[in-house]
Amino acid sequence: MAQPMGKAGVSCLYDLSVPTLAKLPEYLRLHGYKNPKDYSRSPMQWAVGESQFEWLARDQNKQALFDSYMSSRRQGKPSWFETYPVQDLLDGAIQHEDAVTIVDVGGNHGHDLRKFNEMYPTAPGRLVLQDLPSVIKSAPRLEGVESMAYSFYDPQPIKGARAYTFRAIFHDWPDHICHKILMNTASAMTPAYSKLIIVDFVLPDTDVPLFQASLDIQMMSIGAGVERSETQWRELLHSAGFEVVRICRKNPGMEAVIEAIPMSP
Ligand SMILES: C[S@@+](CC[C@H](N)C(=O)[O-])C[C@H]1O[C@@H](n2cnc3c(N)ncnc32)[C@H](O)[C@@H]1O
Repeated sequence: MAQPMGKAGVSCLYDLSVPTLAKLPEYLRLHGYKNPKDYSRSPMQWAVGESQFEWLARDQNKQALFDSYMSSRRQGKPSWFETYPVQDLLDGAIQHEDAVTIVDVGGNHGHDLRKFNEMYPTAPGRLVLQDLPSVIKSAPRLEGVESMAYSFYDPQPIKGARAYTFRAIFHDWPDHICHKILMNTASAMTPAYSKLIIVDFVLPDTDVPLFQASLDIQMMSIGAGVERSETQWRELLHSAGFEVVRICRKNPGMEAVIEAIPMSP
């Protein structure tokens, strides 16, 4: 069970964000008030010399605090499989123990798969957790979950899973990297079987609530990321050859679940 992040966790998030936010007005002025579009030229890169994941990977203590925050921050809130009709996914999955049912890409220490396994102990097939080597090496061993070091800069090695899930991943990245992640995932998907599940905010085009707007600035600062509107999601997915099947959400203040599949040729 993840511990509440406490003072050390707050200080890690402070160190991750505040030095860059303090210099953001200067960054924006120097860059003509344009949205940064390149992870390697993010405001954080400019202000402190690294973007978020390199900064975390360099310091085991900070990485551990960040991972603990990832595990604990949504405690008490519904998971994607409580928002999305997951039974449809399970009913249509190959009912064989060797088949992979879910690959949680960038799943950190596996808190989502652990909860999924508790809620659906008789679900068919395998559950696979993927994240960077620096994260997987400190992940706890979870019953019923296989873990694997993988960077989504590379083609997805698990072929033909029923679902590839990405929770709070795409908002970390600018479009050109999201496009690469999508193409690397599409290369492993079985047509008319595999599904892409994205869990992130889906914003309105105008009148974005303050919390999501501030998160958008935070994501932009630490890695040239974006909180996307429905229009932006559809454009991004379409550009990588995906069509949106449905967008499920419990309320506008929560992350939505986007189901997408590769467009037929
Ligand atoms: C914002 S966290 C989200 C974690 C988890 N999905 C959740 O919602 O709690 C982003 C995750 O992406 C992982 N990540 C960053 N770069 C990655 C890469 N190139 N390949 C795979 N995972 C990566 C990070 O280590 C981190 O666990």
